[in-house]
Order: sequence, then structure tokens, then C-alpha cells
Amino acid sequence: MENKVTLTYKNGEQSIDLPVLPATLGPSVVDIRTFSKTGMFTFDPGFLATSACESQITYIDGDLGQLYYRGYPIEQLAEHSDYLESCYLLIYGELPTKQQKEDFVRVVTKHTMVHDQMTRFFQGFRRDAHPMAMMVGVTGALSAFYQDSLDINDPEHRRVAIYRLISKIPTIAAMCYRYNQGLPFQYPRNDLGYTANFLHMMFSTPCEPYEPNPVLVKALDRILILHADHEQNASTSTVRLAGSSGANPFACIAAGIACLWGPSHGGANEAVLKMLDEIGSVENVPAFMEGVKNKTHKLMGFGHRVYKNMDPRAAIMKETCDEVLKELGLENDPKFKLAMALEKIALEDPYFIERKLYPNVDFYSGIVLTALGIPVSMFTVIFALARTVGWISHWNEMISDPAMKIGRPRQLYTGSPRRDYVDIKNRG
Ligand code: SDX
Repeated sequence: MENKVTLTYKNGEQSIDLPVLPATLGPSVVDIRTFSKTGMFTFDPGFLATSACESQITYIDGDLGQLYYRGYPIEQLAEHSDYLESCYLLIYGELPTKQQKEDFVRVVTKHTMVHDQMTRFFQGFRRDAHPMAMMVGVTGALSAFYQDSLDINDPEHRRVAIYRLISKIPTIAAMCYRYNQGLPFQYPRNDLGYTANFLHMMFSTPCEPYEPNPVLVKALDRILILHADHEQNASTSTVRLAGSSGANPFACIAAGIACLWGPSHGGANEAVLKMLDEIGSVENVPAFMEGVKNKTHKLMGFGHRVYKNMDPRAAIMKETCDEVLKELGLENDPKFKLAMALEKIALEDPYFIERKLYPNVDFYSGIVLTALGIPVSMFTVIFALARTVGWISHWNEMISDPAMKIGRPRQLYTGSPRRDYVDIKNRG
């Protein structure tokens, strides 16, 4: 029997059959592309119940708290994979063979430098400019330098642009930090792995040798894996919508960075640290929670549009946090203790239980990034660095689809009916 739903309207006098499209995992979808025949639009601000596309990249089960990149559970990738291998998986859909991985890593490594003239963009920023403001501007400016890979319909151009973005985004991210700190930019080192090289570009100085701590490198590499993709979140949807107009990949990624900056999205990790600073100590938690319940403020790092169970990334992030703090002898870090106390209280409180509010990926990430020496203002930059591969994978999946159309939502108009112009001398 054909899988469909029948919608009746006009007091039951009319009906329309809408096909139901099956999913590999998760909910099927009602195909409403012919819905305008009814003379009506559907209405779903915030897309709470609307699929904007078909995708094969990432699957989230919000009720079970599951996250798969190309079918592989995030827990297994966090334990056994590394960030560049996860990038390959997200882009190409399969784990690389040994040779494929070596080739991918070599090409990325060889393209981490940016055009030296890009350093001049930073001179235009105040030293205290927010690093995300610099990230948006400089990433978008990549399209001014790499005009040989802007034909989005040419698969080779798309391949080159993908490599350039994955290779150069850590370099740009580190440059934002160095400029903020008044430090000279550090060139990439090809003898280091991707994440170790990022820490080198962030923290090494010309005055003495710098070898990143391998435990901290592994921890940050895992954090990058956790943030790499998350299906159709706000910033990925921004990249898709920008890309649907045919905008070049660098401009689309800059749009994604701008969207990620918001405190309800990627800016939440920065907001969590500010929240912990405001609360100060466990004694102040009850008063803070009262403020949450009377909606004066939110418990940042909690809640999620999709996860109505523990965000699987939050559990791994908490373990990583514990690992890093132990490695650095910071087991008694007061912020970590306060965060764990806050989490315990929230998870036992009916207000949060009723609303299915659990810690999300941002709740612990700020604490571990702080322990790694990364300042609060750089937290969302790290998120953007990691998510670039997710954004560009979705962009590539969309552009490669011959059926792709420009995204152009409709609306429910409740403004003024038609009316004639009134000359200013006749106005009230
Ligand atoms: C990310 O989409 C993704 O996948 C995003 C992300 C990714 O990897 O790309 O996972 C990354 O953005 C994680 C989320 C980071 N944001 C925060 O931690 C900010 C705090 N969280 C919230 O702002 C909120 O939970 C959202 C934005 C994440 C989700 O909001 P929804 O789905 O629109 O839910 P809602 O605002 O309608 O909340 C439902 C209820 C409301 O209460 P009632 O009106 O029913 O009484 O839950 C309450 C909300 O007030 N609520 C919270 C809360 N989050 C929701 N109350 C207190 N603290 C919170 N954090």
C-alpha cells in the first residue's frame, strides 16, 4: 500500500494526498512539496517539525541521546578516531583506508598557510575585537584570495575549496587569538599533527621551543570530533541557505560562523563560563535556580531542541574535562566542582526533569578549554574551527544534488491589507 497521508480542508470538502518518505533511521517525513495546491502554506517558525532537506551525513536520536556521523556512534569515534579522520568520514561518507588517510592528512598539512597579505586584515581590527568578529571577516575574505576555486558546479573546485577551508581555518583561528594578545603570528609547522599544530600556532613563542602536551592534544582533538557536525542545526542551516543561492563556499562558511556566534547556539560555551563566574559558589546555586524558574535567566549549557535526553557529547566532554584537569593537577578546579554541583541539582529538579533539560555539549566544554589555556572569547572560535568540516560537508552534499533549489521560505502575512498613499499634509 502506498505510504501517504490524506489531508482534508475547506470543511472537509477538499482533500490532498501527500506522500510519506521513509528514513533509514528516525522519523519518516510527509512530502509537502505539492501542498500549495491547497492554496495554503504550512507554518512552522523555528522548524520544530520541518525537515529542510534530505541528508546522509549525521543522525541524531534526541530521545535516546544518540549521535552518528555517517552511521558511526560518536562514542566510538571519540575513542578510536581522530579529528582529520572524522573529517574524511564526514566529507566522503566512509572511513579512509590507510593510504587515503595518509593522502588526506598530507594535503591538509601542506595547505595550512594563508596568503601573507591576509595578515593585513587584522591591522584593521581593534586589539580587543571579539575573535568571532575577526573570524567572520577573515574567513569571508578567503574568497578574495582563492578565486580559482569558486565555481561551485565544478566538483574539482569544490574539492579544492573543502581542503583549503579545513587546512586554513585553524591558522585563521590562531591568528585571531595572537592578534588579541599582541603576539606575532606563528606559522604552521608541518612536522606536527593537525591539532598539535593548532596549539603550536596558538601558544608557541619565537623565544623558546614549544612541544604541545600529547594528553592535551588528544583531549582537544576529541573535543574537535565532538563539535564536527550536528545535522541541521542553526549554523549548518545558514550555510545551506547561503549556499543555495550559489554563494561561494568561503562566504557560506563565514555566514555559518556568524550564526554560530549567538548565545543560544555556539556562543553558549562562553555564556556557561560567565554564568559560573556570576554564580561564584555552590551556596549561590539555589538563588540562581530560582531565577531560572522565574525565567530571569537560563541555565546555559542546558537544554536542546533535539536532545530530550543527555547529549552524548556532554558525557564525553565531562570525561575529557576530568582527564585534562587531572593531567594539569587541577582536580579541585572550583569551576568544575561548581558545574558538577549545578548539573546534579538540575538533574534532580522537577523543573528541568519536566522540560527534559539536560546538559548539552556546551556545559563542560568551557571548563576544559579554560584548562587548556584557551580564553573565554576564543571558545566559540574553537567550535567554529571544529564545525567547519560539518558545514562544508553539508554544503557539498547540497550543491552536488542536481535537484537543489534556492531556499526561499514563505510566510503567514498578518500585516495591513492594501491601502492608498496619504499625502503628508493629510496625516494626523
Ligand atoms: C548548541 O541545534 C543544535 O544541534 C545545536 C548544537 C550543535 O551542535 O550545533 O547542539 C549546539 O547550540 C547546543 C545548545 C547551546 N545553547 C544553550 O545551552 C543555551 C541554553 N539553552 C536554551 O537556550 C535552549 O535550551 C535551546 C535554545 C538550546 C533550545 O531551545 P528550544 O528547543 O527552542 O526550547 P524552548 O526554548 O522552547 O524551551 C522549552 C522550555 C521553556 O520553558 P517553558 O516555556 O516550557 O516553561 O524549556 C525552557 C524554556 O524556558 N528552557 C530552559 C532552558 N532551555 C529551555 N530553561 C532554563 N534553562 C535553559 N537552558
